[in-house]
Amino acid sequence: MKTEPIVILSTRELDKMRQAGRLAAKLLQYLEPLVKPGISTLQLNNAAEQWTQAHKAKSAPLGYKGFPKSICTSVNEVVCHGIPNAKQVLKDGDIINIDVTPIVDGYHGDTSKTFLVGTPSFKAKKLVEVTEKCLYLGIAEVKPGGRIGDIGAAIQEYAEAQGFSVVRDFVGHGVSNIFHTAPDIPHYGIRDKGKRLRPGMVFTIEPMINEGTYEVEVLNDGWTAVTRDRLLSAQFEHTLAVTADGVEILTLPEDGN
Ligand code: MF3
Ligand code: CO
Ligand code: CO
Repeated sequence: MKTEPIVILSTRELDKMRQAGRLAAKLLQYLEPLVKPGISTLQLNNAAEQWTQAHKAKSAPLGYKGFPKSICTSVNEVVCHGIPNAKQVLKDGDIINIDVTPIVDGYHGDTSKTFLVGTPSFKAKKLVEVTEKCLYLGIAEVKPGGRIGDIGAAIQEYAEAQGFSVVRDFVGHGVSNIFHTAPDIPHYGIRDKGKRLRPGMVFTIEPMINEGTYEVEVLNDGWTAVTRDRLLSAQFEHTLAVTADGVEILTLPEDGN
């Protein structure tokens, strides 16, 4: 639980978040066509790091609490925080979440998508589609006066109605010049509960949706979170700002998505 006060960003800070968010979106756009059978997750990491440096940004994950690489690559049963590795080569039918967080002028743009490698099973495709829709259903709840519980409730209702489960152990988070700060944004919950949203709040929504149990286990590397039953997990993430009349998605490339 993050207990520090929830920060309201100034217009100047929001502008920096827009720049960081846009760069994060463009980085995912750059990586997407590289996601093909035969590429290793280390090659994806190295491409991301080189692109980030070329754009005069820094990779927030690198060295964060000891994380050893520049992006997270979470394949199939990996829920989140997968570590890029030369021996992990993508194969036809895999699903892979790539989570990037460039820092621009001190501010973080945090976004992720799950990509299909070749032709995954019907079930895998459905999981990925449902998870992306969960993100957008959560975003639709973001407006001044809305409550944090509304976000999780909308996501949980839809995910469970589709026969999937919502991970409890990892949540969305406030993000600004700090990578992870208050508030926590659970992707499950109860409508009309939780803190009220106010203009200038900035946080992520990043639902992890599982094919089977929502329970996760962290591997011996201290990072890789996998489903307990080793069934599939998918995730999508955007960084959002609460505006005077609704929500602004900060992690879109300027030409839409
Ligand atoms: N980008 C992840 C998130 O959405 C955090 C990764 S932390 C790391 O919050 F250390 F694993 F990189
Ligand atoms: Co992220
Ligand atoms: Co995040």
